[in-house]
Amino acid sequence: MGNKLVLAPIKGYTDPIWRSCYFEHFTGIDKVVTPFLLLSEHNEAKKSYFPRFLPELGSDIEVVPQYLVKNPDTIIYSSKIMASLGVKEFNLNMGCPAPAIYKKGRGSGLLENLDSVKHILDSVVGNIPGDFTVKIRTGIVDSSLVKPILDILNEYTLKEVIVHPRYSRQLYGGSPDMEAFKYVYDNSTNPVSYNGDIYSLGDFKRVSTEFPRVSSWMLGRGVLQNPYLPIEIKTGKVVDQNIRKEGIINFISDFRSRLKGSYDKEGIAANRVKACLIYIAAYYNNSPQFITKIKQSRNLDQILDMIFLN
Ligand SMILES: Cc1cc2nc3c(=O)[nH]c(=O)nc-3n(C[C@H](O)[C@H](O)[C@H](O)COP(=O)(O)O)c2cc1C
Repeated sequence: MGNKLVLAPIKGYTDPIWRSCYFEHFTGIDKVVTPFLLLSEHNEAKKSYFPRFLPELGSDIEVVPQYLVKNPDTIIYSSKIMASLGVKEFNLNMGCPAPAIYKKGRGSGLLENLDSVKHILDSVVGNIPGDFTVKIRTGIVDSSLVKPILDILNEYTLKEVIVHPRYSRQLYGGSPDMEAFKYVYDNSTNPVSYNGDIYSLGDFKRVSTEFPRVSSWMLGRGVLQNPYLPIEIKTGKVVDQNIRKEGIINFISDFRSRLKGSYDKEGIAANRVKACLIYIAAYYNNSPQFITKIKQSRNLDQILDMIFLN
C-alpha cells in the first residue's frame, strides 16, 4: 500500500495555529488527527464551537477530530455537527496516559474497561455520519492488553486501528514494542496504522519494509524535530541542509508573528516557540548538554543562533 502520512495529535504543539503555519511552509502530510477536543461529557457544545479546531476544512488535507470522552452520546452529538461542517472521519483516544484521564476510565483507561469500549463502539459505529478510528496503546503496565482489546475491536468495522505500541506507564520513553504491534498487524480485521518513533527517512524505511500492509503512517515528534520529514518520506530524499535551514527559520519567524497576535501575554507566545525550538534543536544535536543549554536560554534569537550557527 502507499505511504499515506498522518500528523499525530500533540497537545500543546500541533494546535490550529501551529498547523495553519506549518502547512503554509511544508508539504507531505495527507491527514491530521487533532489533539483531543475539549468537550464536556454532558454539556453539548454549540456549532460555533468547532470550526476553530478544524482549520484544514476546505483544503486538500483531511482533518480528523479526536475525542477523549467515554460517553457515546457526546461523540454522536459532536460528530453530527462536525459532519455538517465537512468532517468525514472521527477518532477516539484510547491511549492518553495522563493519570487524571486514566483514572476516570478515559484515554488509556479504556484499555482496562472493555465494557466501556463495547458500549462506545456499539453506540457509535454506524450511527455517526462518517468513519470512525481508534488510537490505542498496548496496555497499562505492559503490553498484555493488546489481545483482549483487539478481540473487541475486531467485532466492529473501523476505518483504521492506529497503534502507538507503547504501554501507558512508558509515557513517551523507552522503545515501541514491535512484537505487540506485529500482533495487531497480523490479527486485526481492520486496517492498521503505525505510530511511534519515526524520526528519519531511515526509520520509516525500516518499519515500512517490515510492515508493508500498514494503511497509514502517523508522525508526531519526528515532524516537530524535522518539519521536512513528511516530504523526505514522500520523495525518498533528505532535504539539502541550506534549504532546510532557511525553511525552518522562515517557519519559526512566521509562527512567532502568528502567536504574537493570538496571546495577550508575550511570555506565553515565547514559551510556545521555545518548546518547538527545543524539538528542532534535537534534530541538529541531541546531546543532553546542548538541549540543556537551549532550555536555559530565555532569548529566542539566541536559541536560533545556537541551533543554526553551531
Ligand atoms: C506533548 C504530547 C502531547 C500529546 N497529545 C496527544 C493527544 O492529544 N492525543 C493523542 O492521541 N496523542 C497525543 N500524544 C501522543 C502522540 O500522538 C503519539 O502517539 C506519540 O508521541 C508517539 O508518536 P511519535 O513518536 O511519532 O511522536 C501526545 C504526545 C506528546 C509528546
